[in-house]
Amino acid sequence: MRKALVAGNWKMNGSSDSNKHLLEGIIKESASFSSVDVALFPPSVYLQQVQEALVSTELAWGTQNLSQFEKGAYTGEISAPMLNDFGCSYVLIGHSERRCLYAEIGLDQLILDYIIAEKYAVAIQAGITPIICIGESPEEHEQGKTEEVIARLVDIVIAQNGVQALSQAVLAYEPVWAIGTGKSATPEWAQEVHSFMRERIYKHDPETAESIQILYGGSVKGDNAAPLFSMPDIDGGLIGGASLDADEFVKICQAAVSY
Ligand code: 13P
Repeated sequence: MRKALVAGNWKMNGSSDSNKHLLEGIIKESASFSSVDVALFPPSVYLQQVQEALVSTELAWGTQNLSQFEKGAYTGEISAPMLNDFGCSYVLIGHSERRCLYAEIGLDQLILDYIIAEKYAVAIQAGITPIICIGESPEEHEQGKTEEVIARLVDIVIAQNGVQALSQAVLAYEPVWAIGTGKSATPEWAQEVHSFMRERIYKHDPETAESIQILYGGSVKGDNAAPLFSMPDIDGGLIGGASLDADEFVKICQAAVSY
């Protein structure tokens, strides 16, 4: 049986004051979702604040991105050893908002998939669990290319690092058309895609396919979380907007308890 994981991606939001309030609100209720893995992803300038608040709790934390390089002249980037310095257990890799930004400077999606596979390997080597985000754009969705987009990244990750490495990772299906739009995928649609991802891994290694947590992300709120999490291949959520509100985020974590 897989454990549920709920991850809160704060994106570029927060301040020292609002973080304090948010962290207190989540920690206060954490006994009500103690059977669920929960991780928070603040902007990295607030890592120390989050680490100090969570270090004596069961909650984990991580960053929203990671460089594939260990150190050097990479202005604005953060390395795996730096994440280790701040006790990060997780890192988000390949979020569509990062992809879009890089696509703007001319990188093709296939090259990006290779870079994501490199970042994933760096995280695993550093003992940090990567949450690899995958999802189709609105155009790809309309063209019926969902499975093609997902298969491409899953296959590259497996080819570059071997299927066993996936047993130390988490996958997140985040359809770009559902992110921040208020239009979540239906539980049935998400289940179909998650099942496709699991089957793709199953062909290489049934054990890893059974054990890997696959999260859904895209407009998850307190009131639509339970039907999503009740699907057999949805093992929790990657939450954006709703992770900035303690009550709403707690509701989502509680919905994962009986999943
Ligand atoms: P929303 O929950 O705001 O749609 O964002 C999802 C997301 O991108 C999480 O990484």
